[in-house]
Amino acid sequence: MSRLSNKIAVITGGGSGIGFSAVELFLEEGAKVIAADINLEKTGQIATKYEGRFTGVEVDVSDSKSVKAMFDTVENKFGSLDILFNCAGIFPGDDGGVLDTPESTWDQVQNINLKGLWLCCKNGIPLMLRSGGGSIINVASFVSFVGAATAQVAYTASKGGVLALTREIAVEYARKNIRVNSICPGPIETPLLKELLSDEQRRQRRLVHIPMGRFGKSEEIAKAALFLASDDSSFVTGASLLVDGGITAAYVTPE
Ligand SMILES: NC(=O)c1ccc[n+]([C@@H]2O[C@H](COP(=O)([O-])OP(=O)(O)OC[C@H]3O[C@@H](n4cnc5c(N)ncnc54)[C@H](O)[C@@H]3O)[C@@H](O)[C@H]2O)c1
Repeated sequence: MSRLSNKIAVITGGGSGIGFSAVELFLEEGAKVIAADINLEKTGQIATKYEGRFTGVEVDVSDSKSVKAMFDTVENKFGSLDILFNCAGIFPGDDGGVLDTPESTWDQVQNINLKGLWLCCKNGIPLMLRSGGGSIINVASFVSFVGAATAQVAYTASKGGVLALTREIAVEYARKNIRVNSICPGPIETPLLKELLSDEQRRQRRLVHIPMGRFGKSEEIAKAALFLASDDSSFVTGASLLVDGGITAAYVTPE
């Protein structure tokens, strides 16, 4: 059975990694999907396969005019919105400790990871209200709960903000039929972590903390998003769903 039949879903960051996997899965489950990304290069083959149900819209989530234009396109084309999966995010290589992270990197990370997500909620919620409700899923991180193995202050702060913002919006809209939840992934093998994971020492430094002994796959996060997007999670709001291979459950990892 298709779990998202007739649903309209916007997936930011739908051009790569976790967002791209969600675009594919949500389409398989019957949704009409709008992939909203600053880079849509990879989505060509999907556009051909799911003609009529897939739309790619170029957007910079940190730019309010660009976000408004993206949701205007959604409204003009579909007239409603049921699912908003906020997945766009960055993790710059020079995000490090408190003393060495450049101010410009701090600003850029907050603008895309946190402000961008707020802008998408701000523009998406009115459309959802007109549809009678919906489900918003925000991507936070396991670092919203615990400090990272190697310092990345800007990214970690942005993801702490995503978690707090998610709860706030969940409470505000709980009686208006909009559910708002966050997914908190552990390290997932996507282009975002390519640089970090290509360094064997840094790779092992991460791996040693994961009880399951491996990194996650983007499809595994997309499946968690499907649960939160679908009516299967109808009594779930304000939740933080950790999908982290057990990282936050562990004090020490098994041999
Ligand atoms: N990979 C991990 O280990 C991991 C862990 C926890 C959380 N996350 C989060 O998951 C989300 C997806 O990351 P991913 O691993 O799939 O990375 P990714 O780099 O594969 O995908 C991120 C996407 O966001 C898009 N993007 C970046 N800036 C944008 C902007 N200003 N406007 C619109 N789109 C923009 C990129 O073009 C890219 O397609 C991010 O929010 C990330 O922080 C990832």
